[in-house]
Amino acid sequence: MVQILNAIERELRRLEGHEAADLPLVHDALHYLTNYADLYHHPVEDRLFEHLERLDRIDDSTRDQVVRLREEHQALYVKGKAFFDAIREVESEVAMERREFDHLARDYLDSQRQHLDFEEAIMFPLARRVLAAEDWDALAGVGDIESDPLFGHLVHQEYERLKNAL
Ligand SMILES: [Fe+2]
Repeated sequence: MVQILNAIERELRRLEGHEAADLPLVHDALHYLTNYADLYHHPVEDRLFEHLERLDRIDDSTRDQVVRLREEHQALYVKGKAFFDAIREVESEVAMERREFDHLARDYLDSQRQHLDFEEAIMFPLARRVLAAEDWDALAGVGDIESDPLFGHLVHQEYERLKNAL
């Protein structure tokens, strides 16, 4: 995930420096993030934390964190779609305000990075601390990494270029 964000960042820097950027790569990256990550990966995280939220041993501040996580997933979905639409407009040479494009791109990248930090620093350690073996059993089968079209064993053809560029 961080690798993908870094690749997008690299191409954005090129655009900002008026160099030739690999827009098809940014397109593929956003396609992956808005399809696989938003529609498959985030629901997996949401299921995990919904389970956690229902446990009696959870306090209110933890419940607030779960709410924040869910809200961030929804916000990322909206921001990702807006950025992806902007890329497609630039690709099809629809005139677009430079500032508007930069804003959408930055807003999306910053939100993604901040979200990943939040998960890595707070939410995943929390889940590891709080969830017991029987909780993980109940969640078994949720989120099978093998079926990830980019990082699983099977790289879908549509993501081959992206994979090679990372
Ligand atoms: Fe997430």
